[in-house]
Amino acid sequence: MVCGGRPLIGEVEMPAAKNSILPILAAAMLAQGAVRIRRAPRLRDVETSMQLLAALGCPAVRIDGDLLLAPGGPVGDTVPRPLMAAMRSSIYYLAPMLARGKRAHITFPGGCRLGERPIDLHLKGLAVMGARIVADGDHLDCAAPDGLHGTEIHLRFPSVGATETLLIAAAAAAGQTRIFGAAREPEVGDLAHFLIACGARIEGVGTDRLQVWGGALHGCEYTPIPDRITAQTVLCAAAACGGQVLLRRAPLAPLQPMAEILTRAGCGIRQLGENDLVLESDGRLLGVGSLSTGVYPAFATDAGPLLAAAMLTARGDTALRETIFSNRFGCAAQFARMGAELDCDGRLLQIHGVPKLHGAALTAQDLRGGAALVIAALTAEGESRITGVDYIRRGYEDIARLFGQLGAKITEVCLPVHTAASAGVSV
Ligand code: EPZ
Repeated sequence: MVCGGRPLIGEVEMPAAKNSILPILAAAMLAQGAVRIRRAPRLRDVETSMQLLAALGCPAVRIDGDLLLAPGGPVGDTVPRPLMAAMRSSIYYLAPMLARGKRAHITFPGGCRLGERPIDLHLKGLAVMGARIVADGDHLDCAAPDGLHGTEIHLRFPSVGATETLLIAAAAAAGQTRIFGAAREPEVGDLAHFLIACGARIEGVGTDRLQVWGGALHGCEYTPIPDRITAQTVLCAAAACGGQVLLRRAPLAPLQPMAEILTRAGCGIRQLGENDLVLESDGRLLGVGSLSTGVYPAFATDAGPLLAAAMLTARGDTALRETIFSNRFGCAAQFARMGAELDCDGRLLQIHGVPKLHGAALTAQDLRGGAALVIAALTAEGESRITGVDYIRRGYEDIARLFGQLGAKITEVCLPVHTAASAGVSV
């Protein structure tokens, strides 16, 4: 239940990036010693990763706020179907399974339904590194009897996930691997820095050409980078609601595109020291015209729905073109239920700002779209009820608490389960 219409004022600290910690947990399986991941958020996808690690014989335990793993023992060769289906990041486990155990039985990964999300780049890359992959329906039978070997790989698109799969594989492969057309997202760099902390040699981090020398890895302690998408969630909400927020652990560089857009919309944004950011807004935003999402360092696809939510009540128009996924704006129909004026034609979302939104019953259909509904509900007059919150939990440990620290009124309510018994039916 979100009670909207209040300014957001206060200070919040950004958690570790979901999209860093997920591949890092898979990569940790390669280490021959204890790995400690600091400040591991209690996200649904992190919990799924812990189940997956346990299923593969490499359990992770929580100690204080950290995750502790002791890799090095025998590795399982099968990921149960429900764990594959629970998130996209399950595919990150294929490379370490092949590197460590030489076999992997998996199914295609699940994840937010943002349109077609093939894994051909992951599989083709692993194949040229020596893996034999046979698909039978949605089952993938994979083996690397002679281990993985270094090679040259050219990605036709800078896929974040494929770059990460191949980085993990290359760190464990015999010899040298060169990846051309690599993704440059900060989370890819963070995975590379984790592998380097485990003893890997990697050059070109942060560029589209990565060079990796494979070898034995040791354990390490590692703190993933702060979550730039959570930071953008808070920035968009505070921009639209009005108020003043201080974001701790939110360096400006990866937030630059969003900071520029929100400045154009009328907000004041300034950096404090190296890692903190202040946003001030009177809540009367201006539409920002036409924008496109793109691969890093362009405006991030994950931030599209978040910005859209902030622009629903801006004066003037905003048009967002999504270039990465075909179904990014599933939240548009929910925005309309709150009185938003918009038109969504596949990858193009056109918003004509309205003076105010009203509370409504809403359903989250994916992670960032769900967070965008929370932002819209915070700006709306009255109360909104959002269901499908499990999607939001995949990437936000406790979104009610996150915004509660800024004065928002969000409560989690347990709706009565409509069981056969409660309906008075004997079974
Ligand atoms: C990562 O997904 C993120 N997920 C996504 O964040 C993010 O939206 C996306 O990168 C883009 O930045 C994680 O890091 C866990 P991609 P990923 O591979 O790896 C095509 C969130 O909300 N493609 O860069 O799946 C694909 O179809 C999530 O936190 C292929 O064609 O993204 C898509 O159009 C959602 N073949 C494009 O690349 C492949 O083998 C981008 O996918 C792989 C991808």
